[in-house]
Amino acid sequence: MKKENIKETQNDLMEKIVSLCKRRGFVFQGSEIYGGLGGTFDWGHFGVALKNNIKQAWWKKFVDGRRDMYGVDAAILMNSKVWEASGHVAGFSDPLIECEKCKKRFRADQLSDIKKCPECEGKLGSMRQFNMMFATKIGAMEDSAATVYLRPETAQGMFVNFKNTVDAFHPRLPFGMAQIGKAFRNEITPRDFLFRQREFEQMEIEYFVRQGTWEKYFEYWKDEMTEWMQEIGIDIKRVHELEVPAEDRAHYSSRTIDFEFDYPFGKKELFGLAYRTDFDLKNHKLDYIDEEMGEKIVPHVIEPTFGVDRAVLALIVSVYAEDQKDGEVRSYLKFKPSIAPVICAVSPLLKNKPELVEYANTKVFAPLKAEFGRVAWDDNGNIGKRYRRQDEIGTPFCIVVDFDTLTDNTVTVRDRDTGEQERIPVAELKNYINSKISI
Ligand code: GAP
Repeated sequence: MKKENIKETQNDLMEKIVSLCKRRGFVFQGSEIYGGLGGTFDWGHFGVALKNNIKQAWWKKFVDGRRDMYGVDAAILMNSKVWEASGHVAGFSDPLIECEKCKKRFRADQLSDIKKCPECEGKLGSMRQFNMMFATKIGAMEDSAATVYLRPETAQGMFVNFKNTVDAFHPRLPFGMAQIGKAFRNEITPRDFLFRQREFEQMEIEYFVRQGTWEKYFEYWKDEMTEWMQEIGIDIKRVHELEVPAEDRAHYSSRTIDFEFDYPFGKKELFGLAYRTDFDLKNHKLDYIDEEMGEKIVPHVIEPTFGVDRAVLALIVSVYAEDQKDGEVRSYLKFKPSIAPVICAVSPLLKNKPELVEYANTKVFAPLKAEFGRVAWDDNGNIGKRYRRQDEIGTPFCIVVDFDTLTDNTVTVRDRDTGEQERIPVAELKNYINSKISI
């Protein structure tokens, strides 16, 4: 295929994904009824469910599934001294350029010509560093001491609780701290749907090791990250490792690998793995008594970092599929049952037959809902329309109660990917679904 045709197909794919996300209640533009707010998105019912499943899968593997990890949920507002010590006040900035004619602002490192405005061809002004932290004032005071920042990374919430965690749990090295939460960056040019936002969510681990062992644990975490991506269903063929050159690394990192992903808009960062050395603990004047070695040390840090929103985007791109059915294009999301926002939908074949509705509601929907939670009731439109809707939500199984059910207590279960249907006894449904969730 020609280069421009590939680009067109990819743009087309991105448009289809954005529109599906809105149509099916996953993601909406932030503050939409007031014209939107750049770089913010609101999550609808199925988007929240998908994000929760991703976060739970992460917590289960990296916290509950281990003996050496301690969870944290730190405040988003932090004392500004945290960000002075971490180097963010001085160094967390992007190069900014403003057009003298149309006043639009751009990131200089993303322009092919730093003299001419890409929008109006006007003259661009000189470049300056723009700090990406959102500042606000705390309390009623208006002086500079009252300035606080919304955290631009969750990491510092863990470093500042390092001593609390050590004092409370007495962990032995190596051990880690883990946190999931919002982060905020005043991005100059938010773009590409969920990819670059001003408010987003991170899942981060700070893994503390003895200095001489960092390389071993760096490799270890690289494999763990890859394994988790596969577990949730990210297409690993689209993921590429990039050894980030020194000049592009964050100020705290001595080695970084970016896991890049083939998004429809190009190959860009998905997650990152950094060796933060003892940079943060040292700057916060924190140390650790290594009882095994009989000395006081400053542990070194390996940081696997994951963006929740980019995980959602990469996952949707990975599972989006189309096929032809009866001359019609069908689009569907091939989520794993363990990650899908809805695990099964229950329908009476006809909604104007009270005996079908009653059976479907009391004998199928209610017990499945009580067991799995992620169960939808769908009696809107004909069966074909319901299947199309559930396909787009990515529901792996559609269960239909028909007239045979009333006599033989079996239902039709339709598989989302193959469209095949089988009869399953109602009494077997819980086991059937449980066996699929574990995949
Ligand atoms: N604590 C290290 C850190 O924050 P980062 O590479 O700047 O490193 C970590 O961010 C992850 O957060 C990224 O790999 C990405 O998944 C996500 N992320 C960063 N900036 C983002 C943005 N503006 N919008 C959405 N996700 C973002």
